[in-house]
Amino acid sequence: MILRTDGVTKRFGGLTAVNKVTLRVEEGQIHSIIGPNGAGKTTLFNMLTGEIPVSDGEIYFREKKVTGLKPYQIAKARIGRSFQQNKLFGNLTVLENVRLAEHAHHRGHFNFTRHFLSFTEPVEKAWQVLEELGITDIAAKQAGELPHGQQRTLEVALALAADPLLLLLDEPTSGMSPDDSVRMVRLLRKIGKRLTMLVIEHNMNLVMSISSVITVLQQGTVIACGKPSEVEKDKEVRKAYLGGHV
Ligand SMILES: Nc1ncnc2c1ncn2[C@@H]1O[C@H](COP(=O)(O)OP(=O)(O)OP(=O)(O)O)[C@@H](O)[C@H]1O
Ligand SMILES: [Mg+2]
Repeated sequence: MILRTDGVTKRFGGLTAVNKVTLRVEEGQIHSIIGPNGAGKTTLFNMLTGEIPVSDGEIYFREKKVTGLKPYQIAKARIGRSFQQNKLFGNLTVLENVRLAEHAHHRGHFNFTRHFLSFTEPVEKAWQVLEELGITDIAAKQAGELPHGQQRTLEVALALAADPLLLLLDEPTSGMSPDDSVRMVRLLRKIGKRLTMLVIEHNMNLVMSISSVITVLQQGTVIACGKPSEVEKDKEVRKAYLGGHV
């Protein structure tokens, strides 16, 4: 088991966005989190990566307690993430974005006191990431000029630049064309061969085809967890999430 949460809870005033969530993520698996809008999926990620503190509960990564650590400490522990909202530097190139992500990771924070593009660390690592994702041909393009599908791929590259053992992806195919989604699925399968992934996703075809395990959240609470074939059949899931139509 690479990641374990025990009763993780987030309260925003009177709203319990995440309610006593107990997750078990096995090493090497692609574990998906699904659930309707506002179910608490992103909030759960934000707690896992230290963006926001938990109201209650504990998080363990590789059997070490990581609850309460800051985002840079979580990144150092080798949990990486991509965001639901675009975090790219639009006026920098693809390669510069990846190098910056790598650099920020090694320094523990973004540091603009020194012109980061003048740093002398080798670029091999950044190239490796671009190669793995099949985007070396756009290395010199400005991130802000890329089509949406390539921007989303670049976001995965930024998360990979920090060399995570566990990669958290928040809706990697959101807003993508069907063709781009197919490409992303292929990439996720490829990356999934060498690291563990926790993926928030609305695209049910994708979820069903790549996941080893699916956890279903509804109003902050886990209502089902199991293999795709089991979750698909679950009456509560069909009623709550799939509207009984699937
Ligand atoms: N910082 C915050 N302050 C107050 N309420 C918040 C905050 N962040 C999230 N929420 C609320 O918590 C609930 C869960 O939100 P969250 O963004 O985690 O849902 P989600 O499952 O990621 O939804 P989506 O599928 O739309 O991305 C929502 O009701 C949201 O309005
Ligand atoms: Mg979300």
